[in-house]
Amino acid sequence: MTAANGNQGKFLIPRLLAAGHVLRACVRSEESARSLRSAGVTDVLVGDLADPRVMARAMHGVDKVYYVGPTLHPKERDMGLAAIDAARESGVRHFVFSSVLHAILTDLTQHEVKRDVEEHLLSSGLEFTILQPANYMLRHRLKPVLEQGVFLLSWALDRRQSMVDLADVAEVAAAVLADSDRHAGATYELVAPGRYTAYDIAEVVSEVLGRKVPAKRIDADQFTAASHGADHEIRFPYHTEAVRAISKRYSSHDFVGNPNVLTWLLGRQPTSFAQFVERELEAL
Ligand SMILES: NC(=O)c1ccc[n+]([C@@H]2O[C@H](COP(=O)([O-])OP(=O)(O)OC[C@H]3O[C@@H](n4cnc5c(N)ncnc54)[C@H](OP(=O)(O)O)[C@@H]3O)[C@@H](O)[C@H]2O)c1
Repeated sequence: MTAANGNQGKFLIPRLLAAGHVLRACVRSEESARSLRSAGVTDVLVGDLADPRVMARAMHGVDKVYYVGPTLHPKERDMGLAAIDAARESGVRHFVFSSVLHAILTDLTQHEVKRDVEEHLLSSGLEFTILQPANYMLRHRLKPVLEQGVFLLSWALDRRQSMVDLADVAEVAAAVLADSDRHAGATYELVAPGRYTAYDIAEVVSEVLGRKVPAKRIDADQFTAASHGADHEIRFPYHTEAVRAISKRYSSHDFVGNPNVLTWLLGRQPTSFAQFVERELEAL
């Protein structure tokens, strides 16, 4: 698994370990490597996957790949294409690509990149499964609620979005990896029920907390500054532009999908946003 200590990895790695898989986890930092080793991963590869030699080592000797491109990485396209080429050269039997819902959108950089990676995978001759998750339900997006008493969003508050719980994504990913022949050649949209405006999100959070939490719009650059610092435009121009594009797109269009496929795959109702908030606020 790539991006193994990221948002998905934190859910998927424990699941794969519990199921008894022998796995290689790829990360960039020693800090993440230490945490994965202490969680029980014996084969941790530390290195920059933008380096083709590191990518070749990542794919060497593995049977199946779960490929996640790190969030808004300037070389996401090159890394995705290289991962597929390296997997094919190494004789990987099944390549699972964690893509994104509606990868065909061309005004969102990270979607356009994934469209290209999907195309490369389809043309590679590798056996594959593509997962297309909706917007992640993310624990850290709830932090401002607790710290500032407000839900912050960097696009129009009345636009609707579909989301998905990463525990559900990990459940599907683990099932696909365990029984990959059954899921060969499939592309699955992973979407929880519901289409939420920022006001809807704030209302759910208010109900769970038992106190009023308003929704507040911030602009794309304020959002990026919070994670990447005030000088993000100079130090992280790709990230800055990608977040601006997200803000623009999501302010002029809803981003919605359908929960049927995820419901069928799980054999139950997907986790709702309210259930996610209840679980995560307890953990925070
Ligand atoms: N956020 C959403 O709502 C959403 C929705 C659908 C799809 N997606 C897509 O999902 C993907 C991200 O998934 P995620 O959030 O689970 O991952 P993530 O949290 O962005 O991944 C971070 C992990 O990637 C590793 N990493 C970063 N740069 C690296 C590099 N150059 N070489 C090797 N490893 C590197 C990090 O290593 P260290 O821990 O060592 O730093 C960390 O373990 C993106 O492609 C995104 O577009 C996101």
